[in-house]
Amino acid sequence: MAQEHRDTAPGTEAHPATHPGLPAAGRDSGLLGKRIAGYLVEEEIGRGGMAVVYRAFDVRLERTVALKLLAPELARNDTFRKRFAHESRVAAAIDHPHIVPVFEAGETEGVLYIAMRYVPGQDLRALLDREGPLEPVAAGRIAAQVASALDAAHAHDLVHRDVKPGNILVAEGTDRDHPEHVYLTDFGLTKKSLSLTGFTTVGQFVGTLDYVAPEQISGKPVDGRCDVYSLGCVVFETLTGVPPFRRDDDMALLWAHQYDPPPPLSEERKGLPEAADGIFARALAKAPEERYGTCLEFVAELRAALERGERTRSPYRGGSEERPVSPPPEPPEWARPVFKSLGA
Ligand SMILES: Nc1ncnc2c1ncn2[C@@H]1O[C@H](COP(=O)(O)OP(=O)(O)O)[C@@H](O)[C@H]1O
Ligand SMILES: [Mg+2]
Repeated sequence: MAQEHRDTAPGTEAHPATHPGLPAAGRDSGLLGKRIAGYLVEEEIGRGGMAVVYRAFDVRLERTVALKLLAPELARNDTFRKRFAHESRVAAAIDHPHIVPVFEAGETEGVLYIAMRYVPGQDLRALLDREGPLEPVAAGRIAAQVASALDAAHAHDLVHRDVKPGNILVAEGTDRDHPEHVYLTDFGLTKKSLSLTGFTTVGQFVGTLDYVAPEQISGKPVDGRCDVYSLGCVVFETLTGVPPFRRDDDMALLWAHQYDPPPPLSEERKGLPEAADGIFARALAKAPEERYGTCLEFVAELRAALERGERTRSPYRGGSEERPVSPPPEPPEWARPVFKSLGA
């Protein structure tokens, strides 16, 4: 029972668990060049356990899209279909800079599909596999973008339920102040209506349990606070390189989410401030009512703690080392008129 991202070697293209009902993995899955519901399939860009995502060309509007084809067993599941229809509609109605815009969701020849904006770049899973833990500042920036997307969804009564690095797409940003632009994707596409662990007909595991909230495991009703928990797990991994709970098998992992306290962040990665430990303890609280009320509240507190940590780590601000005492350099000749007060 390998978890999906673990059977992928770092830096390689993700081709995890091939679903029996989906086209085979590989460059040419037989669909390339085919037209599906008005989209010309160009290239496979990724696959999870329940879907294959293609870069495709929208023939009517002449633009590139990401076309997601869902596993046929999902189309056969009535509860899933209903929720798929409902939540695609809600997700499409949310216009948010950090949510992948859905262009169309429908069904063709018994296959559910979603056409959405094609986001060039990589997902956070690939980024972490390639680069390991991110710098606290970058981790904070990414977390804040995902948090704003989640809070916006929650304001529409939409719970994501599957916040994980593979659903966070990282595109190039606009400028030096915004080095990356992050999109959250896959609202309402969890397998909850099938079964939590999502075993396929051949008993293959198709999902990750690294980010699943205790109340999802115990089958209680969920609200936005389950996304706070999952986001907490994701941000923990972004900062340390590992998710908070790691166990040898899935049962032990589920147990840990429900009953074990998360390890302190500052112990997982040296140099991260102890002030962040309590923040994660609250985001990852077992009881939803003990967590932060919103994702942005969690991330704002975390970023403040990380920033304070950076300051005390910086050799020139506090800490054991002294700030250098040499005076600032003389302004250049051309600047003299501006710096008259310097007595030029
Ligand atoms: N809108 C998109 N633009 C570009 N790539 C995407 C888009 N949506 C999904 N992908 C890529 O396809 C991969 C597979 O997606 P998905 O089937 O949802 O699997 P996962 O379980 O990893 O989320 C994602 O991890 C991502 O890299
Ligand atoms: Mg996904």
